[in-house]
Amino acid sequence: MGVEIKVDGLTKSFGKQVIWRDVSLTVPAGEICVMLGPSGTGKSVFLKALIGLLKPDTGSIVIEGTDIASCSEKDLYEIRKLFGVLFQDGAMFGSMNLYDNVAFPLREHTRKSESDIRDIVMEKMDLVGLVGAEDKLPGEISGGMRKRAGLARALVLDPEIVLFDEPDSGLDPVRTAFLNQLIVDLNAQIDATFLIVTHDINTARTVPDNIGLLYHKHLAMFGPREMLLSSEEPVVRQFLNAQRVGPIGMSEEKDANELAAEAGQELPPLPPIPMQLEPSNGIPRRSQRPPGEWCRDHGVTPPPGSFQADAAIATR
Ligand SMILES: Nc1ncnc2c1ncn2[C@@H]1O[C@H](COP(=O)(O)OP(=O)(O)O)[C@@H](O)[C@H]1O
Ligand SMILES: [Mg+2]
Repeated sequence: MGVEIKVDGLTKSFGKQVIWRDVSLTVPAGEICVMLGPSGTGKSVFLKALIGLLKPDTGSIVIEGTDIASCSEKDLYEIRKLFGVLFQDGAMFGSMNLYDNVAFPLREHTRKSESDIRDIVMEKMDLVGLVGAEDKLPGEISGGMRKRAGLARALVLDPEIVLFDEPDSGLDPVRTAFLNQLIVDLNAQIDATFLIVTHDINTARTVPDNIGLLYHKHLAMFGPREMLLSSEEPVVRQFLNAQRVGPIGMSEEKDANELAAEAGQELPPLPPIPMQLEPSNGIPRRSQRPPGEWCRDHGVTPPPGSFQADAAIATR
């Protein structure tokens, strides 16, 4: 279960404004990928291109042999059924209770009986830990519960691919930690491909199998988590370690004067690579690999203290 997404040479602009160009990457089937990037670098635009809501100028997005960038409306309609999407704010209908919100895609897209719908809605509410809250209105519950309700709705048609647009925005660190654990548990359990757009460095460091970084109108890097967390590439290093020193400035990239002023400044050492967050439900990740394997295979020495059980805490 879970399908691969193969993106090749993708470019998107609005009028004269290029958002990103020549983005190529493969999201492996069943794995978790995180896409990072400063605000406004086109992360949401990228997700919208993947589900065919925005058409790229050039390039291809191939899923199960169909190129979303060039296929017919009819094929697009079919391909979209593979996706579940969790939008930034949960995108709940405010006047419907959680039950009806979660049931909505089933009533819209299937001919299931209300009794079948009930079974599916309750199964998904249970998956995200919301049993008992079916009658609540979105406005009556916390942001964390709204995200989980949005997630239940995203799962209701049994997607092969789940896209998350900043699932942790507006959540406190403890709620974010719970949501991250839920995401990892769900990935192991339902075995779909997950792509998460986030700003949260701790999420990026511990949750995914692969990380991508959009910066300055291109994909700066995409690859296994350990590759990016051990990378000395200046943009990757700066972003993944939330540092001020580096090419990224307050509003956009730093200019030559700003960079010259930084020259010779000692960079703090790379922090240890934390252990990957493990599923708490006893089901292994589909892509479970021994900690440090990528570094060993590629002759990279990980930062001291990496892959110790408490390294995640040390970087918080
Ligand atoms: N439908 C659209 N029409 C024109 N410009 C858009 C549209 N959607 C997004 N943009 C522009 O694309 C850029 C990237 O937006 P977005 O993907 O929302 O960034 P991010 O999610 O990384 O913060 C922004 O400058 C935004 O104004
Ligand atoms: Mg966005």
